[in-house]
Amino acid sequence: MPRTRKTSSKRREKTSSQQTSRPNPSEGVLCEAEVVPGLEAFAADELRRRFGADLRVLDTSGSGAVRFRYRGALLKLMSLRTVQAIYLLKYIPGRRPSTLLGDANFREIQTLIETVRSAERGDYQTLHLAAAGSDTVLMQRLKSEFAQQTGLALADDKGDLLIRLRPSAQSAQSSTAAGDQPGWDVLIRLGARPLATRDWRQCNYEGALNATVAHVMALLTNPAPTDTYVNLGCGSGSLLIERCAAGDARQVVGVDNDPAVLRCAAANREASEYASRSTLARADIRSTPFATASVDALSIDLPFGQRVGSHEQNRTLYPATLREAARIARPSAPFVVITHELRLMEAVLSQQSAWRLERELRIVLRGLHPRIFVLRRI
Ligand SMILES: C[S@@+](CC[C@H](N)C(=O)[O-])C[C@H]1O[C@@H](n2cnc3c(N)ncnc32)[C@H](O)[C@@H]1O
Repeated sequence: MPRTRKTSSKRREKTSSQQTSRPNPSEGVLCEAEVVPGLEAFAADELRRRFGADLRVLDTSGSGAVRFRYRGALLKLMSLRTVQAIYLLKYIPGRRPSTLLGDANFREIQTLIETVRSAERGDYQTLHLAAAGSDTVLMQRLKSEFAQQTGLALADDKGDLLIRLRPSAQSAQSSTAAGDQPGWDVLIRLGARPLATRDWRQCNYEGALNATVAHVMALLTNPAPTDTYVNLGCGSGSLLIERCAAGDARQVVGVDNDPAVLRCAAANREASEYASRSTLARADIRSTPFATASVDALSIDLPFGQRVGSHEQNRTLYPATLREAARIARPSAPFVVITHELRLMEAVLSQQSAWRLERELRIVLRGLHPRIFVLRRI
């Protein structure tokens, strides 16, 4: 499917291939980061911060996508934390999908696949082709050509090697200066799994938060090494572990009242590199064991009332949680909250005076439109 692009004021620089007719190898490879829609600016920040002069962000205007050029070692990109997946991207001019089977084009795609496979130590066994109309005769032929060339077995759903094809919304990205002629974006995912599927996730929990969102929520607390950080309702530990990944802290504590999810959080924490840097406590988030005004930063992934909790319970849980968080927070402490119960959250916020709403981020997650609220203790 073509990606919807906003005609926005956001920055869209010209790629070198638009400026000149040939790509310049010193500019590196063209990549696209897949990001939770609404978090593009955080991904662009991380890309710039982590890779400096080796990376040039080209376009942040796509919903859920950030394009960039990169000339460092591809393996280093695998450590990004705010990005769901990284793809190498090639624009192939030509209206019909059959253009992709043309000798020169097919060779270019093969080279791209080889670049990805040689960059990562991962073991690729299967291949999946994701494209609109993937059942058509032509797409089936493309699939079997790719399978034959790569020696990988075709997978119907998730494959180790993921190839995405889509009609290009950015025809002018053509490295052949094809102007506005229609074409195809070929995207090959770097790595046999998305980056959002963290190595630490040993225990799955149905209501678990996407790890890239958890990381952004940790960043939104402005992590400092002196922090006492509390994650209320920690579930399987996503916010807890990603807070540790975001930087040192004096103390990182996860609180939940469900022993089964606490065991799940413990398993995930053990599998992370931060096993010794956090503690877990069984307690009710409406009445925690922390002293008054003792916590520097807090976060919570509130039950949405769908997979976890119920709308009925949330009516009392939300205000009680904000009250208890206000009790334990130091003055000016940030409290980063995610929820999908927007009307309830807005009503609860309007009826209290302990927290000031500093920022609200709209994101898209599993087809839902939750928001991240950044609150500040008054
Ligand atoms: C949406 S889940 C959090 C999921 C978590 N972010 C993760 O990635 O796994 C909400 C959590 O709040 C916990 N919870 C709900 N009500 C609670 C209460 N009154 N006291 C303590 N924990 C509670 C649930 O057990 C659940 O683990």
